[in-house]
Amino acid sequence: MFRPLALAAILATLGITSPVLADDDYMPPVRHGATAKECGECHMAFQPALLPAGAWHRLMAGLDDHFGENASLPPETAADIEAYLVAGARRRGDPEVIRITEQRWWRHEHDFSPQRLARAGAAGPSDCLACHKGAEQGYYEDD
Ligand code: HEC
Ligand code: HEC
Repeated sequence: MFRPLALAAILATLGITSPVLADDDYMPPVRHGATAKECGECHMAFQPALLPAGAWHRLMAGLDDHFGENASLPPETAADIEAYLVAGARRRGDPEVIRITEQRWWRHEHDFSPQRLARAGAAGPSDCLACHKGAEQGYYEDD
């Protein structure tokens, strides 16, 4: 019996991210202290595999105006986080688009109305945890 989710989880604990299994049910959880701390302050610390490398570079270059917030960090911390995010980045996607929720794959998976968001008690599309209870652990298979 082949269980891709279980296998992906095992590979992830071994530090291996399989190019096949890393998309889309399971995103290896954030295991990097600085990222978990600094990027989990205002929202869930989004997993590296949610954005392509180019988008992470772009996002990290604009922390002083991060969706209207000042999320600036000391340069060394920012570089450390950027390296971690880029190392685990998604292989495909639009490098110009820094919102996960505006990436094509994401829009393809989500087709919800404002009513549906409200029913889930989600603050907005980026409130992954409202619908995916296992999001911080990297599981997105349930709603
Ligand atoms: C001071 C608060 C704050 C901090 C710290 C912060 N963010 Fe954000 N982040 C926001 C806000 C506000 C939004 C916009 C939320 C929305 O519109 O849904 C956002 C959105 C995002 C999005 C886009 C989500 C989407 O809509 O797809 C990403 C990706 C993101 N942040 C990554 C990071 C990373 C990486 C860090 C750490 C370097 C970080 N954030 C730190 C406040 C913060
Ligand atoms: C309003 C509820 C809602 C919100 C908010 C939401 N999702 Fe989803 N998501 C769903 C539903 C429903 C599906 C499709 C059904 C399924 O596969 O479980 C889905 C599917 C997915 C999938 C595909 C899973 C698979 O089985 O292939 C991923 C990955 C995902 N979402 C990630 C995210 C991320 C990351 C966020 C936050 C940036 C987010 N979702 C926000 C409801 C939501």
